[in-house]
This record gives sequence, C-alpha cells and structure tokens, in this order.
Amino acid sequence: MTELEGWNYIALKTVGSTNDEAKKYCLGFQQKNVIRADKQTAGRGRRGRTWISDLGNLFFSLSFEFDLKNVGALVMTSALSLAQAVEKYSSNIKPQLKWPNDVLLNGKKMSGILLEKGDGNYVIVGIGVNVVSAPENENLLYQATSLRENGIVCTSEEFLGAYLREFNQNLELVENNKQSNLQAEWLNRAYGLGQSIIVRRENEEEKGIFSGIDENMALLLKQDEKIKRILVGDIFFDNGEKNERI
Ligand code: BTN
Repeated sequence: MTELEGWNYIALKTVGSTNDEAKKYCLGFQQKNVIRADKQTAGRGRRGRTWISDLGNLFFSLSFEFDLKNVGALVMTSALSLAQAVEKYSSNIKPQLKWPNDVLLNGKKMSGILLEKGDGNYVIVGIGVNVVSAPENENLLYQATSLRENGIVCTSEEFLGAYLREFNQNLELVENNKQSNLQAEWLNRAYGLGQSIIVRRENEEEKGIFSGIDENMALLLKQDEKIKRILVGDIFFDNGEKNERI
C-alpha cells in the first residue's frame, strides 16, 4: 500500500470488479482508500450493465466514510471532478456533464460512475475512464470516446492523481456545506440544458424540458409549466425523428 494525494493507494493487476475489492477496505476509522486495477474481468455498470474493461484504461474505486443522506452531492462531486481533471490537461476541450453522472467529450461518453454502499458508513465510488481506448460494441447504450481520441495523452495512474486532486477540493466544499458552488460548476457544464428530453426508467418514460438540477442532484423536468423532480433514470434527447444515442 502506498499513498496518492492523501489516499491509501492499492494498485492491483487483475480483479473481478474494483468495487468489490474496495468493499474489503471499509475498515477502521476515517480511512480513505483508492483501489485501482489494470484489468477487470467482471466490471459492472449502472443498472446491471457490464462495463467493458480494456487494458490501458482506468478502473478504480474509492472507499471512505460518507453520510449517504448527501448522496446527491457525492454524485455531483464525482462527475464534476472528472470534468475538471480533463480541463487541467487541456484548455481546448470542454467536457460536458450529462445527468446523472456521465462525462462527455464532443458528445460521447468518456467515463462511467457506479456508487455502491460499503460496510458501516463507508461508500464506494467506482469509476471507469476511457484513457487510451473507447470500447467498440454496437450494443452500447451510448457512443463512447477516450481521452487519447481527444488529444490527451497520459497514463491511467497520472489521470487518477489529477482526479483525486479535484475530488479532494470538491469533497471539502461538500463537508463544509458549500455545495451550491458545486451545483453552479455542474450547471456550467451541463449537457442539453433547456432541451426536450425523455427520461427512461425500467418500464416507464417521461418527456419534458431539461430545466436544471437541484442541490441534491435531482433532475428538474418541466412539464406543462410545472417542474417535476426526477431522482433516477437515463436521459435521451428527443430530436423529433429518433432518440439521439449519446
Ligand atoms: C456506468 O454504467 O456508466 C458506470 C460504470 C462504472 C464502471 C466502473 S470501472 C471501476 C468500477 N468497478 C466496476 O465494476 N464498476 C466501476
């Protein structure tokens, strides 16, 4: 175990899922652990999807104590920190944040975030970043891209360091009840604000105008001049002919 940006750092070769490895590190008091693997054989995505884990890309999970009543702030922090880390590498690239927790480069998904509960007060934040390559699979829900495709050349470990620097600062804001700053930063990078969207859940969908997020990361959907708060779902853009897949 070594140290990386104030976190206990555990680097592994091949694992099933770094989220499962991170669950083994929900120990002790106020430990902050980051577990990275070169390869995952059973990477998990949101809502039961598989996360394709090609060699050279970044797969890591954070395990630390966090009050889950603030889970919205944690989602906001996790995704915003990814965008800010990308911005540190290049001022030309403008990452966009797609609700609830995707980061897009030129409209394509560069990363994924999976939050799970650990033992006790621990939370697991599992993140996959396409550093060197974007998985090619026609069944993907969204088109994918990589940092390299966008001109950013770095190793997965270097990007992890850049991420943790942003995450540490943002988490401090949350812990000091200053998450309105984060909400503004998130909205500055929001993808599709003011557009007509479809929000899909298991067996239902709703249409409306994407009108922002609240401080808890709920999506604000405008329907007939009323605002509805949506807590879970995937969003698609309603372009009249077909649903744009991004
Ligand atoms: C998504 O569906 O967009 C979320 C993908 C999360 C993938 C990461 S990779 C590291 C960690 N380990 C996992 O099994 N999943 C997360």
